[in-house]
Formats: sequence, structure tokens, C-alpha cells
Amino acid sequence: MADEELKKNIGYAAADAMVKSGMKLGLGTGSTAKWAIRRIGQLLKEGKLSDIIAVVTSSQSEIECQNAGIPMVTLNDPKIDGHLDLTIDGADEIDPDYNLVKGGGGALLQEKIAGYASDHYAVLAAGDKLVSGIGPGFKVPVEVVREARVTASKAMEALGAVPEVRMAVKKMGPVITDNGNILIDLHFEKPINPPEMEQKINMIPGVVETGLFTKLKKLDAFIGYEDGTVKHIKVR
Ligand code: 5RP
Repeated sequence: MADEELKKNIGYAAADAMVKSGMKLGLGTGSTAKWAIRRIGQLLKEGKLSDIIAVVTSSQSEIECQNAGIPMVTLNDPKIDGHLDLTIDGADEIDPDYNLVKGGGGALLQEKIAGYASDHYAVLAAGDKLVSGIGPGFKVPVEVVREARVTASKAMEALGAVPEVRMAVKKMGPVITDNGNILIDLHFEKPINPPEMEQKINMIPGVVETGLFTKLKKLDAFIGYEDGTVKHIKVR
């Protein structure tokens, strides 16, 4: 099945199974999460969902929400008061303990703020993103303030990583995130301990956040396969 069709199946399956009227939602970023946003918009228009308010996680998901007609507020809005019922988002890798790597689309900071503020999380991914260990595969993204590019890179090297500043396409210089920071992608030769590494990286001065998601509360996974089927796993 074509990649895009499978992503659509995954996004639709998650929205259909997880989103209920009245929910306060965190809406993720990426080519899979966008289909969940579009489906929620469709269900609102058809009157099958109502009273949804959403917190977006990037300028991409903001545009998707605007196009889908989903009402948006910020996480600080008194209607949300820093607490979400459910966040739906994609992932770059998922390990056997359901630790996630995120940030391939550069939106990890707002994604983590929303995800960690949610009672429930739904992760969306194709089956080829399930890995036996994090580190040697997809590079772990870290958002860093610009002034700390060199110092943070050295500190991450000392943790066993090979750091690489993410460069922009169609613009000279580094990628600048929605929050005005840079991204440093980390390659590890051997699998890491994700919860431990998340904590260690977050201790480095100038690091804003890492793309390791290890502390999500209640978690469901929607995993898509080449034949177009989507498996719904109630992880915890
Ligand atoms: C963006 C993310 C995305 O959720 C992640 O990169 C997966 O994206 P896609 O569904 O396009 O593969 O973390 O920062």
C-alpha cells in the first residue's frame, strides 16, 4: 500500500477510536498525525463530535487545525489549565518498552509539553518504526538554544553521542525551530537507556528538551502494516 494511504488509515483509526466529544486534545505534528487532525475536523463537520478544543504542537499542526476547523487555544488558556485529556501524535521510533524518539519534524518541544500534560497518549506509526533499541537507528533530536551549540554538543559527546547540527533545506544555515532554537541530532553507536539518557541530556545547560519520550502516562499505539491494516495496542 502507498505510504500516504497507510498514514491516512493510521490517523483515521486513532481519531475514530480515541477522540470523544468534550475532549481537550493535544494535536501532534507530522505526515501521520495530520491525518488524525483531518479526521477530527471531518467528524466535527458531520456533527459526530462536538465541544472539542485543541492545543497544537507546531506551526504545521496549527495550519492543519485551521484548515480542519478545529477550535484552538493555548495550554495556558483557563479552559485547558495545563491539562489535556488526550494527545495524538506520530513517532520516529518506538522501542519494546514503548519509549519514543520524536522530533524528526522539528517539533519535539511543544510535542513533549503537550504529551506530558496529557492523561492519555496515542502514538501513530508504521510498523517499520518499531525497533529493538534506540540510538543506532534514527538520530535522537535535541532542541538547544543557539548560544549553546558548541558547549552542549561537547557535553552530549561526553555522553557517548555523535552530535550533528540539523541543517535547513532551501535556507542557508541550521534549522530554526518554532521556538527560535536549533536542533542537534545525536547518533549513538550502541542502544541507550532512554529514560536515563533523557534525564542526562536535559541536565546540560542550553538544552531545552530532548526527543526521547519515556514518561507518557496512559498509552495506546496505532501501528500500520503494508497491507493497510492498523493494529490498536492498548499499551498501558
Ligand atoms: C515531529 C515528530 C513527528 O511526529 C515524527 O517525526 C513522525 O513524523 P511522521 O509521521 O511524518 O513520520 O516528532 O517533530
